[in-house]
Amino acid sequence: MGRRRVSDHPCLVVCPPGLEARVAEELVALGARPERTGRGGVSVGLTTRRLYAANLFQRCATRILVRADRFTVRTFADLERRIAAIDWSPWLPADAAPRFRVTTRHSKLWHGGAVAERFAAAFPETGGKGFEEGGMGDVAHPLVVVRGVDDRFTVSVDSSGAPLHERGWRQATAKAPLRESVAAGLLASAGWDPSAPLVDPMCGSGTIAIEAALLAAGVPAAADRHLALWDWPSFEPGTWASVGADAARLREAAAVPDGSGMPRIVATDRDAGAIEAARANAERAGVADRIEFRVAPVAVLEPPPGAGGGEPAGLVATNPPWGGRVGGGDLRNLYATLGRVAAERFPGWGIGVLVADRDLARQVRLGLDERLHLDLGGRSAHWLVGRLPA
Ligand SMILES: C[S@@+](CC[C@H](N)C(=O)[O-])C[C@H]1O[C@@H](n2cnc3c(N)ncnc32)[C@H](O)[C@@H]1O
Repeated sequence: MGRRRVSDHPCLVVCPPGLEARVAEELVALGARPERTGRGGVSVGLTTRRLYAANLFQRCATRILVRADRFTVRTFADLERRIAAIDWSPWLPADAAPRFRVTTRHSKLWHGGAVAERFAAAFPETGGKGFEEGGMGDVAHPLVVVRGVDDRFTVSVDSSGAPLHERGWRQATAKAPLRESVAAGLLASAGWDPSAPLVDPMCGSGTIAIEAALLAAGVPAAADRHLALWDWPSFEPGTWASVGADAARLREAAAVPDGSGMPRIVATDRDAGAIEAARANAERAGVADRIEFRVAPVAVLEPPPGAGGGEPAGLVATNPPWGGRVGGGDLRNLYATLGRVAAERFPGWGIGVLVADRDLARQVRLGLDERLHLDLGGRSAHWLVGRLPA
């Protein structure tokens, strides 16, 4: 590979399958031009500054990989030659002990472990063992992703570290928590305006409400976490500081010192343990003062007092349970109650319901449209969105 300017990084922004269009929008908002979208990722060329900004600000991404090399090989001898020619110096010091995540498809060199060993041999500190599956999954080790398809190998270095949806606040979980990146995608694709009220009547550990409050407070997604790129030999502290200054300006613009004009975000759940977990998470995220938590069943749901007084229309956004019996009733009743309460008490509001079963979702009876079709850990999920009659 010819040397390229390190200010021009060919990247793959990895995301939960179904959020590619949202990720592409976030990249456009950062001034980048996404090139191609595949399942679970968006290709884009990023300057160093945009790479830093994408890691700091993107809410829907899982990680950002920077391509180090690309080649076609069919023998281990050729693979070793190509590995020896890779210039790792922008990303990994010679004493690094990276872990290698290798996947292959339709390739002569199909054995991931054997491919990883050849890569690990380039880094003495790995002791020649670098395959992630073999006990090197520790995020303290820099991650290198190797993908071989039809003998064509792409080698990428991870710039993010722990997955970007791990914002750092989640410790307490209720049942089936959503990823923070997915909650962000739901809010964006429902067109939620961060100055409008938001209600999640089945909030669980509070992910949707907390993500909304962070958005309203102008807190960047990666505000409180370590990024792998900070440890790169090519890391530019001055560039990072200038991206950080942008973030500080945004936060200042969103600040509401006396609390007036704060959007009302209400998170309720029938389970007291879930509300306790959600409140503890919101405190860690620094947004507990922006969310009103209550233990309550969906049936008694009300809009926040005063909502509808001139502010943009609010959003009911929720992720009901997907299976089993709940509280003695069945899921059909729960979905029907949600639809009835929303239609009666939230005129003119938007509504978004994340479901696994579209037949069950018909119980909501509101004529919702599918806005996102997601793959959440191998399970298909549909984000159905609509507007309640005024
Ligand atoms: C799939 S979980 C929500 C997970 C949440 N989005 C998160 O990220 O943690 C569904 C929640 O609905 C709550 N729930 C079930 N039936 C309810 C009802 N009738 N009223 C209110 N909440 C209910 C459960 O207690 C559970 O916390």
